[in-house]
Amino acid sequence: MSIPGITNGYELIHPDYYGENGPPYAVWDRLRAESPIHWCEVDDIEPFWAVTRQDDIKYISKTPELFLSEPGITLLPTDRDIDREDGIGAMRVVINTDPPVHRDLRKVASPFLTPRSLQQMQGVIDKSAKAVVDDLAEKARENGGEGETDLAMGIAVRHPLRVLAKAIGVPEEKEDQILELSNRLFAPDDTELGGGKTDPEDFAKLGQEFVELFLPIIADRRQNPTDDLASVIANAQINGEPMGPMETLGYYLIVFSAGHDTTKNSLAGGFSQLIRNPAEFAKVQQDLSRAPDAVEEMIRWSSPVNYMKRTAAADTEVNGQKIREGDAVVMFYGSANRDEKVFDDPYRFDIDRHPNRHIAFGYGEHFCMGTHFARRSMRAIVEQLARRVEHWEITAEPEWIRASFVVGLKHLPVRYKIREQ
Ligand code: HEM
Repeated sequence: MSIPGITNGYELIHPDYYGENGPPYAVWDRLRAESPIHWCEVDDIEPFWAVTRQDDIKYISKTPELFLSEPGITLLPTDRDIDREDGIGAMRVVINTDPPVHRDLRKVASPFLTPRSLQQMQGVIDKSAKAVVDDLAEKARENGGEGETDLAMGIAVRHPLRVLAKAIGVPEEKEDQILELSNRLFAPDDTELGGGKTDPEDFAKLGQEFVELFLPIIADRRQNPTDDLASVIANAQINGEPMGPMETLGYYLIVFSAGHDTTKNSLAGGFSQLIRNPAEFAKVQQDLSRAPDAVEEMIRWSSPVNYMKRTAAADTEVNGQKIREGDAVVMFYGSANRDEKVFDDPYRFDIDRHPNRHIAFGYGEHFCMGTHFARRSMRAIVEQLARRVEHWEITAEPEWIRASFVVGLKHLPVRYKIREQ
């Protein structure tokens, strides 16, 4: 039963709250214990059910015929009307569709994103990881041996940017441009990152800029197909027909946007924990084969996709709570990944969790298609750092991004010493 009084939902969804405090862990703890399916009404945001226990989120995620993605996966401010006919709103993306269309769209890129196919990306991933850590080493050398940097704005951004841009064919000289567009897409309310551009015209313009970036890539890969992901998308067929233009453009957008901010925020949040828990970092330093365990815990800890919305297709129930047709149901992964029914001591950063039952990549029908990609690129960075960091410490309180959908640290200032090789 939904118990009023714990929260009206403000802490769960308002970008201001996240910007000032980070995720609402204490509120989630209470909701899981007292009101796991909780009705929320926040001014200027559509009302919604907050779902906070891992079991309930799994049930909703594996019942796509009853909990739809097509009506939208984010909660929008009631005054933020994204035009579905124009710009970004018109791009049809896999994450925003339901079966059977969804399964056809998934088939387009999933063969490329398997561990086997991704071997062709390993060289790019390793080179990028080494380059960003070399860069840190060089800065430290220029500074007499000890460097200062903002890990959230620096290597956490640059490395996923380089590898994803390569995968979807964006040339290096356009990396900064796609980064700027991505910031505007995911943190429109954050004046530093997204420029506070939140009008419908801003989103239409943003869509147009993405189109201009992707069209030449599509044209090139149609003429000169290679075996990269950019070519797979450009030449994709669905049921024997070429994929439509809005689906094709949307695919580039979803791969980049779903992949970049999520990996970046997992890295930044994860670095902060590796620094604050030196014994955990030491386990990787002593045995590099532990890097995947560290990566998994970094992803659980930071849960960068904070939530996904579904819309009830009919009157139904979740865990005894009646839900009406058309109600918005919002699954908070950050809460599911601190669920004490699933994790011992969930607030401990512990790379020894086996298995690590987090659902930061979602679950069921829309389970993240980029898990292997994300894990590989994070692992490469963690290995570089584990081999080379001699010392690192946080020098000021980290700051949070002012956003509630893809969440994470905006600034993580550190002082460090790193070996040259
Ligand atoms: C640590 C990094 C990442 C996290 C935490 C993450 C998380 C997620 C989550 C929670 C979902 C939605 C699940 C749902 O609605 O049930 C998702 C979907 C998706 N992700 Fe990721 N993701 C990450 C990295 C990536 C990367 C690197 C790529 C691309 C290379 C990617 C591509 C996608 C795609 C295409 C979907 C849509 C799948 C569908 O709708 O069927 N993700 N991801």
